Amino acid sequence: MLKFIRMVALPSLFVLAACGTDPAPGPVEQIIVREPGAAPVETAVASAPTDSNPASSLVAEGKAAFANCSACHSLEQDAPHGAGPNLFGIIDKAAGEASGFAYSDALKASGVIWAEAELDSFIADPAAKIPGTTMVAGAIAEPAKRQAVIAYIASVTAN
Ligand code: HEC
Repeated sequence: MLKFIRMVALPSLFVLAACGTDPAPGPVEQIIVREPGAAPVETAVASAPTDSNPASSLVAEGKAAFANCSACHSLEQDAPHGAGPNLFGIIDKAAGEASGFAYSDALKASGVIWAEAELDSFIADPAAKIPGTTMVAGAIAEPAKRQAVIAYIASVTAN
C-alpha cells in the first residue's frame, strides 16, 4: 500500500517541482504520517488477549478451538452424548467408560487413561493413537491449539 502511494505520489511531486510550482507537501505528508500510525493499532488488537492473565487467555482460546469438537461432543455435565461421548470430566478418566455411549471395541480395549499427554496425542491423530477408533474427524494438527483445547476441557468442572 505504502509502495503504491509512493509510486503515485513521487512522480507527481517531480512534475509539480518541474513546473516551478510549490510541490504541495500537505497531502503527501499526511499519507506518510498516517500509514505507520495504522500498523500499531492492528498489532495492539491482535495481541490484546495475551496481555491479560495467560492461563485464562489459554482457556479462552481453547473454548474457541473446542468448536472442532462440539459438533460431536458436549462438555456440559449430564448433557446427552452426540456423535461422540460427553467429555465432561474426561481428564484422567479411563477411555470408553461413559455410560450409554456405543464405543468402538478399539477404544474400549485401548486401556488408555486420559491424562493430558494422552489426550494430546489422541487429538493430534486419533487413528494413529487408537487404530480402529470411530472418531474420524476433529483432529487438531497445531500443538498450541491442542494445548488450549485441553486447558479448556480441564477448566470445565462441576460447580
Ligand atoms: C466427527 C465427530 C467428532 C469430532 C469432531 C470429535 N470427536 Fe472425539 N469422538 C468421536 C467419537 C465417535 C468417539 C468415540 C470413538 C470410539 O469409540 O472409538 C470420540 C471419542 C473421543 C474421546 C474418548 C472419550 C472416552 O470416553 O474415552 C475423546 C477424549 C475425544 N473424542 C476428544 C475429542 C476432542 C477434544 C475433539 C476436538 C478436538 C473431538 N473429540 C472431536 C467423535 C468426534
